[in-house]
Amino acid sequence: MTSRKTIVITGAGRGIGQATAEILAARGHRLALADIDLKEVEAAAGKIGADAWQLDVSDREAFRTFLSEVEEKAGPVDVIINNAGICSATPDALAQDPVLMDRTIDVNLKGVMDGTLQALALMLPRRSGQVINIASLAGLMGVPGLASYSASKHGVIGFTESVRIEYTGSGVNFTVVMPGPVATEMMDGTSNSPFVTMLKPEEMALAIADSVESKKERISLPRSSWALTRMTSLLPAWLSIRVNRLTRVDRIYTDVNPAVRSSYEERIRLGHQDD
Ligand SMILES: NC(=O)c1ccc[n+]([C@@H]2O[C@H](COP(=O)([O-])OP(=O)(O)OC[C@H]3O[C@@H](n4cnc5c(N)ncnc54)[C@H](O)[C@@H]3O)[C@@H](O)[C@H]2O)c1
Repeated sequence: MTSRKTIVITGAGRGIGQATAEILAARGHRLALADIDLKEVEAAAGKIGADAWQLDVSDREAFRTFLSEVEEKAGPVDVIINNAGICSATPDALAQDPVLMDRTIDVNLKGVMDGTLQALALMLPRRSGQVINIASLAGLMGVPGLASYSASKHGVIGFTESVRIEYTGSGVNFTVVMPGPVATEMMDGTSNSPFVTMLKPEEMALAIADSVESKKERISLPRSSWALTRMTSLLPAWLSIRVNRLTRVDRIYTDVNPAVRSSYEERIRLGHQDD
């Protein structure tokens, strides 16, 4: 490790965020973990000796307070990983629950924008820092069953790419992460495609953790899914629809097992699991 950094991770109570925290803690960094779900984040933080906060990233004022509390307790935030996200799958766009549609944009897009800007305001005077925003390959292509999610992730990529250009030379670096499917609760009950490899959370987390050293601007895994996404996005729309049908990529989020998926959908509909 080159130097010990103070690293904030949102949505760190489970999945990719938790796995990333474990790797970064093992590398000697100081972690501040936040999640809407207090029990989960306390358990995750307890395992690695990190600090835990309850935070709903869609609450702008709470996010501001959280970051200032972290700075008070742990010193300047060197890296923020805006990872918290939700993903509701529906047979089509009209079947979306309007509450979840709004929440998807509030958490996945506005939460990431707020986290980016608030951390940036702290980092700029120090001319040092890194903002790592977790988007998705769904931010590079249309995904049937995930219209709002895909919209939110297109937004994260567009926002991160824009601010990177604006703040070139400022000392603050921006990384956008575009994972393909990763085996977390977010993928519960979804279908698979023989052309899409499901990553383990630790595999994705390793690439995110490595970007703290490399400051790589864009990360996407698995490479095969990234290549398929790029290829289909260059095709005429009618042909990409056909390729997605042939590869069964268009079934992943529309052909779901509701019994297996219901507990995840219920969790994100309620917002959190605490009493
Ligand atoms: N799993 C995948 O296939 C996949 C693929 C591409 C991108 N991603 C992205 O990776 C990130 C992490 O997803 P994951 O798969 O680990 O999901 P996950 O459900 O396992 O973990 C997400 C965490 O975010 C927390 N969270 C939800 N809403 C929140 C809010 N408003 N404020 C704070 N915390 C909140 C949840 O409580 C949970 O602990 C998300 O941004 C997701 O969109 C996941």
